[in-house]
Amino acid sequence: MSTKATIEFEGKRIEFPVVKGSEGEHAIDVKSLRQQTGLITFDPGYKNTGSCQSGITFLDGEEGVLRYRGYEINDLAEKANFLEVAYLLIFGELPTHEQHDAFLNDIKEESYIDEDLKKILESFPKSAHPMGVLSSLTSGLTAFSPSSVDVNADDQIYNAIVRIMGKLPILVSWVYRKRMGLPLKYGDYALGYVENIARMMFRKPNKEYVANPIIDDALTKLLILHADHEQNCSTSTVRIVGSSHAGLFASVAAGISALWGPLHGGANQAVVEMLEDIKNDDGDVNKYINKAKDKEDSFRLMGFGHRVYKNFDPRARIIKKTADEVLNDLGVVDPVLDIAKKLEQAALENPYFVDRKLYPNVDFYSGIIYRTMGIPTEMFTVMFALGRLPGWIAQWREMRKQKEPIGRPRQVYVGERKRSFVPFENR
Ligand code: CMC
Repeated sequence: MSTKATIEFEGKRIEFPVVKGSEGEHAIDVKSLRQQTGLITFDPGYKNTGSCQSGITFLDGEEGVLRYRGYEINDLAEKANFLEVAYLLIFGELPTHEQHDAFLNDIKEESYIDEDLKKILESFPKSAHPMGVLSSLTSGLTAFSPSSVDVNADDQIYNAIVRIMGKLPILVSWVYRKRMGLPLKYGDYALGYVENIARMMFRKPNKEYVANPIIDDALTKLLILHADHEQNCSTSTVRIVGSSHAGLFASVAAGISALWGPLHGGANQAVVEMLEDIKNDDGDVNKYINKAKDKEDSFRLMGFGHRVYKNFDPRARIIKKTADEVLNDLGVVDPVLDIAKKLEQAALENPYFVDRKLYPNVDFYSGIIYRTMGIPTEMFTVMFALGRLPGWIAQWREMRKQKEPIGRPRQVYVGERKRSFVPFENR
């Protein structure tokens, strides 16, 4: 393939370099486009825009491939623990035993929160959406940590990383416990990272906590599958906020807000709400398929379709299998799982979905697993945020280390042209 692309405009031909990724992707480097031609590119939703060069996650939406730092997602979900994956994403290599243990210990050292933050949590009504609360508390953490780090000082970056890895799970468990009316507690730091999260969340004040390996294992898989997904909406948000040299906590707080929306991470909540609606509507999946197809109806089949995957989302395959295993192992019969299976089947056979390559995405089955664990629907996206944390950190670190310029897109202005001001008394 040529290493140059030519743009012809108003009789002028200008060549631009083509950059090549390690998996054979090509991109026209238009950095000098405006300077050379006065033109800018117009790409709403950035469907064709590469915002950075990244060595963290590779995904091929046509082939349904997802790899973190070169490792297949299936291998990581089956064989690694969440902290190994977090280390891999952030630092680029799977940790040795010593590196893993040192990382876990350093995180544990930071696994406490200034008690004053509880006052902020207490001021929220119980009915507040957990994502809003989590985003606010994460912003609140900045008051107790340096707002900015020197990117040339590896120890400062490392400290910021272990701090947020230690503190976010506590916030997540507090948000959950507040919602459930349970006392706010810290964890048992003799446990592994995920095992401790499960304990912090599910421990009851009136009972000895007994770990359930099925739940710990399913939680590990879910967190790994959500850990990174290259330049999606929340990750791009983290990078763009961080590009102003805002600190890691502030950037992550912004990422949490971006993740909240139902077209992004909020889809896991929306899926289960939709499946409940279908169940209460006599389980008529075809009615909802038809609603999704109807262009006059704003309804979309939640948990279907993806900006990048035009093939089966590889994460969805793993999650579907995990959902089956967890429900079987725990002996839970959930009619919503049957509706999900029927809906999936009906959509996969329907030309509307086939032609548009709309397949179930990662969130189609994740909510069913969270439900089985007893996690309330509104907490699902919070769990997604917990999983995505290492990805956000890795992308933020990469962006700062690459010394990327501040993110600042341009626009095509289509508003009023210059006009004369009309004084208030004349309007
Ligand atoms: N139900 C019905 N029709 C759909 C759906 C859907 N879920 N998704 C896309 N379409 C149709 C859309 O109407 C359009 O049809 P047409 O060509 O006739 O106008 C076509 O498919 C292409 O859709 P698009 O909106 O241009 O695609 P996009 O890349 O902008 O949107 C999406 C991707 C994920 C926002 C979208 O598929 C969607 O809204 N899905 C439901 C929400 C969801 O499950 N989100 C979770 C994504 S996975 C988690 C994550 O990574 O955040």
